[in-house]
Amino acid sequence: MENEKGYIYAINGPVVIAKGGCSFSMLEMVYVGKQRLVGEVIKVSDDGATVQVYEETSGLKVGEPIYKTNQPMSVLLGPGILKSIFDGIERPLKVLEERSGAFIATGLNVSSLDEEKKWEVTITCREGDELSSGQVYATCPETASILHKCLVPNGVKGRVKKAMPNGSYSIHDTVVELEDETGNKTELTLCQKWPIRNPRPVKERLELCKPLITGQRVIDSLFPVAKGGAVAIPGGFGTGKTMTQHQLAKWSDADIIVYVGCGERGNEMTQVLEEFSELIDPRTGAALTDRTVLIANTSNMPVAAREASIYTGITLAEYYRDMGYNVAIMADSTSRWAEALREISGRLEEMPAEEGFPAYLPSRIAEFYERAGYVDSLCGEKGSVTIIGAVSPAGSDFSEPVTQNTKRFTRCFWALDKSLAYQRHYPAIHWMDSYTEYFDDLIPWYQEHVSPEFPSCRGRIMHILQEEDKLQQIVKLIGADVLPEDQKLIMEISRLIRVGFLQQNAFHAIDTYVPIDKQLRMMQVILHLYDRGMELVRKSIPLSQLKETGIFEDIIKIKYDVRNEEIDKMESYRQRIDTLTDEILKNNE
Ligand SMILES: Nc1ncnc2c1ncn2[C@@H]1O[C@H](COP(=O)(O)OP(=O)(O)O)[C@@H](O)[C@H]1O
Ligand SMILES: [Mg+2]
Repeated sequence: MENEKGYIYAINGPVVIAKGGCSFSMLEMVYVGKQRLVGEVIKVSDDGATVQVYEETSGLKVGEPIYKTNQPMSVLLGPGILKSIFDGIERPLKVLEERSGAFIATGLNVSSLDEEKKWEVTITCREGDELSSGQVYATCPETASILHKCLVPNGVKGRVKKAMPNGSYSIHDTVVELEDETGNKTELTLCQKWPIRNPRPVKERLELCKPLITGQRVIDSLFPVAKGGAVAIPGGFGTGKTMTQHQLAKWSDADIIVYVGCGERGNEMTQVLEEFSELIDPRTGAALTDRTVLIANTSNMPVAAREASIYTGITLAEYYRDMGYNVAIMADSTSRWAEALREISGRLEEMPAEEGFPAYLPSRIAEFYERAGYVDSLCGEKGSVTIIGAVSPAGSDFSEPVTQNTKRFTRCFWALDKSLAYQRHYPAIHWMDSYTEYFDDLIPWYQEHVSPEFPSCRGRIMHILQEEDKLQQIVKLIGADVLPEDQKLIMEISRLIRVGFLQQNAFHAIDTYVPIDKQLRMMQVILHLYDRGMELVRKSIPLSQLKETGIFEDIIKIKYDVRNEEIDKMESYRQRIDTLTDEILKNNE
């Protein structure tokens, strides 16, 4: 049966006005024009609707039909998501490319997931079992490292009437049949749909208690984000937003990575892909791409699909969370997403608020970040979605609306600093402007899994950095020479922390990822040098004697000299500090 339809009354870039013939509902997916471009209803009126179109609209003509689907804009969930590259509305880019030759064509209705591929399915329920929404009825190895769990769709429950034997099935094969009390039957395949703008339901939201360990010292040791938390990475052009997100995608201890390239350059996405296919996941030994899904809506692609891309991304993330996985989603950059929102709003002739953004910008940002969380899922597993959103304020001006609103809804803030980046201090996460409100909740984890001393070490390191910051003001005015020796020591140790600990080279084989134990040992060595240095200061022995030994420079090089698997070597640094200071003490007796 031909779907009900209206017709195109007006076209304004990605926005199309529909009139006549049928009633549209809010957020309904529609097919626009003869080419059947994918669109979504964003406003309804008495005699029609306003539609945002996710594809290039230049070929559309007034009078062409607009077909209803009676369904909200949804994504297809099922095995085959991982390792894929999708556009903003979950169309596989590879398939599109092969079929049309161009980077992305319009109106091609391809399935999001491979419909032919057979999966080795284990049916986990038996005839007679009672199943309800979110429970697992089948599993299959999706990639070498990830077991896909098929979850009963929302709103469906019943007794298993029929369960197929284990075997190979494709996503649309029925593997289980449910029957509810009233005799209604539901056929369960390996896949289901979910409307992208609705958060998926959970049994319970849990307190955050575990950090997302990233192997990046300034993050794990000073400003950790909790699994299930949300963090903003604001930074001007070239300060390292993309680099930081790539590092997290590569090294963080999430089970699944959803990487949304949103309005940024296309070659960066290609780069992620190339790098990831070469890298091995240190925890599973499998390829890094096995746990990754990429959503690319780069700067050359239609603007409305960019608006949708972060919802598509977060929905995929929630789906894997519901299976009990820890998922991290990176959005690079949410500013480009906000700009898409602004462009569409402008075309709708809505009243602009701050800097031309629509008045609903804050609520949209909030809705996105609120989908982060650590939860008890409906199938009884614990899973999390951690959101890492890059923000690109023009001219590094953090007072602009996207940065400010993002700050309101995230509890962790990695402020990238232009002058640090300029000095090539990377990651350019500024220790004075950044913060995390998660640390207190994570203290028990650090104490149990790293060391009881971890929180106090972190506290002392932060304190030294703060002291240095205050002293810098004085030094600027009157120079460093006049500082008393104890303050000079602060300056020296602080430099050690900045250069030897906070700076971390993503391109260096050893330094690119550092386990948390080694991070602690590095902090301890630095603090030990500080303590022993203080001992000299108290005895009025000039610091220069300690500096001349070269120990400061040696400690700065620990990150390159001590391999991650030989952290026991760290003890020798401690001993050297003791030998050197003991000697100096003796010589000054
Ligand atoms: N951790 C790092 N280690 C080494 N170099 C870095 C690091 N972070 C950023 N850089 C350098 O900064 C450049 C710009 O970073 P990028 O992430 O592309 O910036 P942005 O996305 O903020 O525009 C990178 O190409 C790289 O040379
Ligand atoms: Mg970038």
